[in-house]
Amino acid sequence: FTVPEPSNEPVKDYAPGSPERAALQEAIAAARSQVKDIPMYIGGEEIRTEKTQSLHPPHDHKHLLGHFHEGDKGHVTQAINAALGAKHAWENMQWEQRAAIFLKAADLLAGPYRHRINAATMLGQSKNAFQAEIDAACELIDFLRFNVKFMSEIYAQQPPISGNGVWNRTEHRPLEGFVFAITPFNFTAIAGNLPTAPAMMGNTVIWKPAHTQIYAAQVLMQVFQEAGVPDGVINLIYVDGPDAGEVIFSHPDFAGLHFTGSTGVFQHLWKTIGANIAMYKTYPRIVGETGGKDFVIAHKSADPKAVATALSRGAFEYQGQKCSAASRAYIPTNLWEQVKDFLLADLASMKMGGPEDFGNFINAVIDEKAFDKISGYIEAAKKADQVEVIAGGTCNKSKGYFIEPTVLLVQDPLYTTMVEEIFGPVLSIYVYQENHYEEALELVDQTSPYALTGAVFSRDRYAIELATTNLRHAAGNFYVNDKPTGAVVGQQPFGGARASGTNDKAGSMINLLRWVSPRTIKETF
Ligand code: SER
Repeated sequence: FTVPEPSNEPVKDYAPGSPERAALQEAIAAARSQVKDIPMYIGGEEIRTEKTQSLHPPHDHKHLLGHFHEGDKGHVTQAINAALGAKHAWENMQWEQRAAIFLKAADLLAGPYRHRINAATMLGQSKNAFQAEIDAACELIDFLRFNVKFMSEIYAQQPPISGNGVWNRTEHRPLEGFVFAITPFNFTAIAGNLPTAPAMMGNTVIWKPAHTQIYAAQVLMQVFQEAGVPDGVINLIYVDGPDAGEVIFSHPDFAGLHFTGSTGVFQHLWKTIGANIAMYKTYPRIVGETGGKDFVIAHKSADPKAVATALSRGAFEYQGQKCSAASRAYIPTNLWEQVKDFLLADLASMKMGGPEDFGNFINAVIDEKAFDKISGYIEAAKKADQVEVIAGGTCNKSKGYFIEPTVLLVQDPLYTTMVEEIFGPVLSIYVYQENHYEEALELVDQTSPYALTGAVFSRDRYAIELATTNLRHAAGNFYVNDKPTGAVVGQQPFGGARASGTNDKAGSMINLLRWVSPRTIKETF
């Protein structure tokens, strides 16, 4: 049995006047015209509670998208029981049958649900059409199709050596227990991948999305149901983090955590799991992708325009809210004036506003907490000696959470915005003496606890080699002459180490292998 050879889902460009743009605009209008009532999904049932919270687009406080029904600890227990109840039939289903479900989910997203999921991501998470398309449509479709391929390869792996009356074999069992998936606001693709990757390998899952992602999460749940994911295999709950954690991490059948979110939360969860370790039937798998302080370093031989474009795109697409976003740059003195001119010209052409207007490149940041944190860094920078705001700097939350793309020129490479994760449209630039490239590489490597993505720009092969070697542990995804965002499934498996995560590469066989607990069987004839 073989599965289709995957290829990356083509990106639609939604060009002005195209039928695709018209269809997406129609989906946006349809979404805007109804106030959604969003239940939890436990054991295939829609669960509504007395406690509802309203959802608004981050760029438009006045518009009401819908209400979601918030659950409590009792719902978490209910979801665990549903997951455990569904487990036996699911894990004993032939893997080809599971594959068929997720291939169908990919086809639904590529076809009938494409505009709906993009519209939900645009409105709920304030993403422009292109950013929604490469996330909620293409990346998620790719995750599903490529993971099915990797899954088929795992089940087809060469067995161990047999002979002389002995037959040895390996069974790729799912984990014993349930998996907990926690997903962030910034990628709908991650929301889709974190529950489905363990589910593909025969696990049942409890999925808790960020509150700011629930609007798109419900559409995904509908896709999973229509694709044939059986009741109880993926359970979608909206429960406060500490309440959910209290129930889940003290349950003996907790067997795995698939997490994307902040470093602080991940470390807290890991400690909780560690403190409870004797409670569990099995050592839980812990897979997490967390923060980043992603860098761009240019060598004196680099093309200044290419560097500037990488900075304007890498730092400001999706308002800098990608864990891969460029947020610190090291530019040599000889290139600085040119890089600056290109960068400022590029920024001047970026319009800001709601994503319903396709001309807006910059939309809003996700919520008030993010707005306050990011604007706090900007206000402090305005007052700091030796920091110059060379672009942007205006923050306004009256209509939506809008922050201008902001560029800070810093004199001190250890200034807070050069070392701390901001997760917003703020790029800090340090200009180094052009002949001190090795020292600059050391600054890149030593001044941040994170190691997710990074890029070097150079036309000198020795300089590329030096960066590749000296920054070996500074990024899990390292780019040469390209921006550090936009990893493509099947092409650049994604993840970082150090404080950025466990580096179990999303969209790869490494990740899927974390969701199995192999059994070796020796049979003697
Ligand atoms: N995979 C995304 C990127 O590469 C980030 O999560 O930009």
